[in-house]
Amino acid sequence: MTARRVVVAGAIVADRRLLLAQRGYPAEVDGLWELPGGKAELGESPESALRRELREELGVEVRVGTALRESVALRHDLVLVALRAYIEDGSPRAVEHRALRWVDADELRSLHAEGSLVPADTAWVPELLVDLARR
Ligand code: C5P
Repeated sequence: MTARRVVVAGAIVADRRLLLAQRGYPAEVDGLWELPGGKAELGESPESALRRELREELGVEVRVGTALRESVALRHDLVLVALRAYIEDGSPRAVEHRALRWVDADELRSLHAEGSLVPADTAWVPELLVDLARR
C-alpha cells in the first residue's frame, strides 16, 4: 500500500472574514479561489507543513489551531485537510498566488454558488460559514 500524503490548507478567519487565495495554475483551477496551503514533506507534521507553506506563500507566521471536520481524498494516496490558522506576524501577500482576498459569509456563498472555488475546497464551505458567524 502506498503511504498517504497530506495536503494542508489554512482556514484563516479574522474579523468575520476568511482569507482566500486565487490560483494561477494548473489550467483547470486557474482563476479559482482556495484556502492557501500545500503538500506536507515526508515526515513533516501537518502543523509544521502549514506553517511552512503559509510562510512561503503569504509571508506570514501563523499559529495553527484545530482541523476542520471534513477531509477530502484528492487521489488514493493524497488527502486534503484544513487547519484553522491565526496570523501572528506579517501581512499576507500573494507571493505565489494571483491575488488574495478577505471574504465575508455572503461573498463566500456567492463564490461557491458561481463555481469560483477550487472544487475540493467546497467541502469546507458549511464549516467555514459557521466559523465566519463566530469570529
Ligand atoms: O498548492 P499545491 O499545488 O502544492 O497543492 C497540491 C494539490 O492539492 C493540488 O492538486 C491542488 O489542486 C490541491 N489543493 C486543493 N485545495 C487547496 C490546496 C491544494 O485542492 N486549498
